[in-house]
Amino acid sequence: MAERKVLLDEDALPKSWYNLVPDLPTPLPPPIDPGTREPVDPKALERIFPRELVEQEVSRERWIPIPQEVREIYRIWRPTPLYRAERLEGYLRTPARIYFKYEGVSPPGSHKPNTAVAQAYYNAKEGVQRLTTETGAGQWGSALAFATMLFGLRCTVYMVRASYRQKPYRSLLMRVWGAEIHPSPSDRTEYGRSLLKSDPEHPGSLGIAISEALEDAVKHDDTKYSLGSVLNHVLIHQTVIGLEAREQLAKLDEYPDVVAGCVGGGSSFSGIFWPFYYDVHVAKRAPKRTRFVATEPTACPTLTKGVYTYDYGDTAKLTPLLPMYTLGSDFVPPPIHAGGLRYHGDAPTLCLLLRKGLIEARAYNQTEVFEAATLFARTEGILPAPESAHAIKFAIDEALRCKGTGEEEVILFNLSGHGYFDLQAYGEHLDGRLQPYDYPEEQIRESLRRLERELPWVNGLPYLKGV
Ligand SMILES: Cc1ncc(COP(=O)(O)O)c(C=O)c1O
Repeated sequence: MAERKVLLDEDALPKSWYNLVPDLPTPLPPPIDPGTREPVDPKALERIFPRELVEQEVSRERWIPIPQEVREIYRIWRPTPLYRAERLEGYLRTPARIYFKYEGVSPPGSHKPNTAVAQAYYNAKEGVQRLTTETGAGQWGSALAFATMLFGLRCTVYMVRASYRQKPYRSLLMRVWGAEIHPSPSDRTEYGRSLLKSDPEHPGSLGIAISEALEDAVKHDDTKYSLGSVLNHVLIHQTVIGLEAREQLAKLDEYPDVVAGCVGGGSSFSGIFWPFYYDVHVAKRAPKRTRFVATEPTACPTLTKGVYTYDYGDTAKLTPLLPMYTLGSDFVPPPIHAGGLRYHGDAPTLCLLLRKGLIEARAYNQTEVFEAATLFARTEGILPAPESAHAIKFAIDEALRCKGTGEEEVILFNLSGHGYFDLQAYGEHLDGRLQPYDYPEEQIRESLRRLERELPWVNGLPYLKGV
């Protein structure tokens, strides 16, 4: 009988994270200070992040040791299992072999604590008392609430108001772990108050919540800010996923033809594919020319329809300009259920790799995503997070393609979280109330025209040339 799941011993937990930045095909364009139009001095980032995380952000080291204290906490749920989706394969009658790495076994229910624990550790080590952050669907906020509790830090979470209403149990979970939650926009920040003045029922967005969390952090000396995706250090921490998966597949004598994941800001997908990218493009020791496929919603099609340029990371324009595919930082997310995928930009590393043709991207609408999620739950039993279900949709399509061609491909995807707090969305799907939604291209173009009017000098910057 073929092995159905592969578990690793706790001592097989990786000892270092992998940093892909020095292995990029061209240097990463730097973040730009919109005031000076010059690259940001990393020192300036120490106002919002602890020193060691800033060092990781700009590090040229390929391997970054994981502190023993962080590995100790990882042991609560890591190494995570790698499953073969045998029943899904049987249902599809595909010759492909489908594997998934299941990150939903962490206490908060997703991959997010892989970085939350590391970030809380470095902040605590440098004497920080409190962390602020934003959360969309609640997975990131829960992960930071969990991690700060373990290191004795306080935690303030700005949760997108629409999700706060949709998912009351997520905020309760964060409160159980001791965090303070505010629906965003809130009356706690100047920016939040300015938005509430014109619309007291403002549904919020991830970009707005980031602005509030940043404003709160910079106004308090004992407080720093924590981000759950996009930045290099966050993606680096997530590579425990791919490093473990590579070892688990090796135990089965397997190597993936394709590695897929969903993308909100790009951390879980990068976490699983970076170590395989290293094998294929850097060490050149992979037995196959593995493909890497990012999946995203048609309602927030950053990688498939966005424009590659410099843009702000938040709506109040407090962050430096980042080189990325963007829908415009004033993008107002439509109310789809994959709340964690509604970000207007993506990780600069991921965007550069897409631009260079080293990864691919696909977009799916929420109706087809929930169909895939339900099929997965009915075959494999696990209820996937709506975000992760985008990768499931890809895996199913790919397996069906193999059925047509007879190829025995090995498909690996990241099941980045469970969906037990998303049952309302499943209910709407089962009742036939979920509509497919494509973000209107005209709105994307309008938003980017506004950006161009505001920052006409961006196109003349030398950093994007050759990328
Ligand atoms: C389960 C799950 N997967 C994926 C994501 C997307 O984030 P990222 O692209 O950083 O992995 C989220 C974001 O909240 C999430 O909750």
